[in-house]
Amino acid sequence: MRLDRFLAETTDLTRSLAKKALHRGEVSVDGEVVKNPAIQLGEANRVRWRGQPLALVGLRYVMLHKPAGVECTSRRTLYPRAVDLIDLPKAERLQPVGRLDVETTGLVLLSDDGQWSHRVTAPRRRCGKVYRVTLAEPLEGPALAAAQACFAEGLLLDGEAKPTRPAELAMREPRVAAVTLHEGKYHQVRRMFAAIGNHVVALHREAVGPLTLGDLPEGEWRALSEAEVAAF
Ligand code: URA
Repeated sequence: MRLDRFLAETTDLTRSLAKKALHRGEVSVDGEVVKNPAIQLGEANRVRWRGQPLALVGLRYVMLHKPAGVECTSRRTLYPRAVDLIDLPKAERLQPVGRLDVETTGLVLLSDDGQWSHRVTAPRRRCGKVYRVTLAEPLEGPALAAAQACFAEGLLLDGEAKPTRPAELAMREPRVAAVTLHEGKYHQVRRMFAAIGNHVVALHREAVGPLTLGDLPEGEWRALSEAEVAAF
């Protein structure tokens, strides 16, 4: 990798600011001041900027316990973003792997590995996402059986060309459901319950594939283990 690109990857400098830092003699490679932005670095070269050692960040995989009022987006909005809660270098490079609405709480995966993210979200991979859904109206008896049949067959939601993929619905309490989806359409859980005449009061994602939040507190994140990354 070229030295100026390496500096832009590992610091907050843009490539043109990196060239200026090089020109000012702020960068050393293996202890020697280097001013040429075009030199190619090998794995063994050790680079310092203003005396600080620099290293490429590599690919990161994290889970976040998202609180309400946080948005899963990369652009800046009125709300804090999920990446703003992750105190890693260059955290803004992490992309949410399947989004939650601003008011939805629970498990969000983030990564800068696009291929891995695709494996988690591609519907044909059938990675189940489990949601705890608090409803405005109780769902029991024949209405529950009808809803389970609808969810299992698929519903044609407003504005969609294709019905939803088969989803599982179970009740934990008359107003608390567990729904498992294998895809992620916009506001899907809320729209599915609206389609059967109910209303979602609160929504929380408990699991993505084999991963659950465990005892991770709301607002906190942790890196996934190698085994967790490999599970998808
Ligand atoms: N379905 C929704 O309606 N909202 C979410 O955040 C996730 C799934």
